[in-house]
Amino acid sequence: MQSWPSILVKMKFLQSIGLAATAAALVSAVPTAQDASAKIARDLPLVESNKLRRVLLRSELLKKAAHLEGLAYATPNRNRLIGTPGHQATIDWIKSIIGGFSDYYTIYEQKFTLSLGVSANLTNNAVPMEVFAVGLAPAGDVTGPLVYVPNLGCTTADFAKVTPGSIVLVGRGNCKSGIKDALASTAGAVGMLVYNNVEGSLEGYGLQLIATKEGSYVPAGGISMAEGKALQARVEAGETVVAHLSTTTEDTDTYNVIAETIAGDHDNVIFMSGHSDSVAAGPGINDNGSGTISLLEVATQLTKFSVKNAVRFAWWAAEEEGLLGADYYVSQASQSELDKIRLMLDFDMMASPNYAYQVYDGDGSAYGESGPPGSAEAEHEFERYFAQEAGLNFTTIEFDGRSDYGPFLAAGVATGGIACGAEGIKTVEEAAMFGGKAGVAYDVCYHSACDNASNVNVGAWIQMTKAIAHMTATFARSFDLLPPKTVQAKAKRMAMAKAMSDKATGKLDW
Ligand SMILES: *[C@@H]1O[C@H](CO)[C@@H](O)[C@H](O)[C@H]1NC(C)=O
Ligand SMILES: *[C@@H]1O[C@H](CO)[C@@H](O)[C@H](O)[C@H]1NC(C)=O
Ligand SMILES: *[C@@H]1O[C@H](CO)[C@@H](O)[C@H](O)[C@H]1NC(C)=O
Ligand SMILES: *[C@@H]1O[C@H](CO)[C@@H](O)[C@H](O)[C@H]1NC(C)=O
Repeated sequence: MQSWPSILVKMKFLQSIGLAATAAALVSAVPTAQDASAKIARDLPLVESNKLRRVLLRSELLKKAAHLEGLAYATPNRNRLIGTPGHQATIDWIKSIIGGFSDYYTIYEQKFTLSLGVSANLTNNAVPMEVFAVGLAPAGDVTGPLVYVPNLGCTTADFAKVTPGSIVLVGRGNCKSGIKDALASTAGAVGMLVYNNVEGSLEGYGLQLIATKEGSYVPAGGISMAEGKALQARVEAGETVVAHLSTTTEDTDTYNVIAETIAGDHDNVIFMSGHSDSVAAGPGINDNGSGTISLLEVATQLTKFSVKNAVRFAWWAAEEEGLLGADYYVSQASQSELDKIRLMLDFDMMASPNYAYQVYDGDGSAYGESGPPGSAEAEHEFERYFAQEAGLNFTTIEFDGRSDYGPFLAAGVATGGIACGAEGIKTVEEAAMFGGKAGVAYDVCYHSACDNASNVNVGAWIQMTKAIAHMTATFARSFDLLPPKTVQAKAKRMAMAKAMSDKATGKLDW
């Protein structure tokens, strides 16, 4: 299993657990990975797109949606937010399903710890102000004069006026707040106040980075845009404002769940991913239980077939807090591990009630940003599938790195994906193409309490799941559609990833 990042803790095969529990005499029967792989190749037919698609059932998707809704509603918060029993139950459920195929998949759990904000207090010149602890920043009790950091504080130069012992005041946006916090720390500041760039509080906000090579972090508090701007005006007018910020945090363990076919070439991997958490507002069944379930269903049905290339499935934790699960995975994987991933596909929002079939613009033809070589080919294959095999219309959506594929993109991995739409509004043209209502959001329940099992369009959902199955089967058979794996291709991938992430800074609403 040398093809796995070394930090991944391999879960015990449920099979061996079962054997130990039933009869010790059977222990010698545990097959090696090689035996298991040979058996799969001997006993099962090589996967084909149409055969894999044919065994996917709407009824299974709906049954699993009802189950996920039940997991959320069985908890006091009625959601599957990271750090809650509803999310842990989701992780356990994914493991229990995929663990039933321990002779087909090797299953890994990747644990990481998130420090979530619990409570915070702030005074400015002894006057109290509402504040929320920023997650992933350390807890602390700090006092110092406020220094305003211009240009949203994404570069060292923005921190030129910061004096040791001060607390920086900076606006949200343009880069992850973890970058601002690390730069503040490097400049000698003892704390950071970040103010919102939209109306509303910064409750539940985090640094959006688990590990940064740029330095250590200082305690941070989030305040409203109005209060932030008012403080900025006072500081810029020359007033000395002494801030006193105290925060507490709580460490929460969470897990990425990863399953890889025992069979197939582990040096050439097709990587399919979605994520397992929801927002606080509700059960999150379209957003993004639907992606979780589509992947589970494809992974379940794939066990009826053999593969030439290894297929890896991942269910990430903490997408909403800043793509943390995927970010953590990429931060822990060596470049040589990442180079084995020929293509990473990401799936969220697979069942929007007022859907459109949206393909990420991997070739940059619609929005001008193309991904690393392989991303364009992934887009073209999705589109060919929709147009020629499924007979469906599709649109393209911007490939901006704002979902779990973002960290992979930045590491030079070819990526792609499809979605059905979130809070965006369906156009008149799209209503002609897909039916549904123009002028209404693709998902009116996006991030709200009504995103439960009644909020899915099962017709759209099965089509999206079939598209996932098509890509899984196609690349499990061969990577002929992708550019060859050469040193030159790798250099090009890395250069394009860098160009893309440089351009992306300044655009993203972190
Ligand atoms: C903030 O103040 C409240 C009320 O005094 C207190 O209960 C809480 O522990 C304080 N939290 C921090 C982090 O100082
Ligand atoms: C669900 O997926 C959408 C689209 O990728 C993303 O914008 C949203 O933040 C995700 N929601 C959660 C709760 O992770
Ligand atoms: C595709 O969109 C066109 C309108 O642009 C529409 O006339 C046609 O019926 C749509 N096809 C399908 C399969 O929905
Ligand atoms: C799901 O949400 C809808 C709309 O808010 C609501 O009418 C329905 O009762 C909810 N389902 C359950 C099981 O609570």
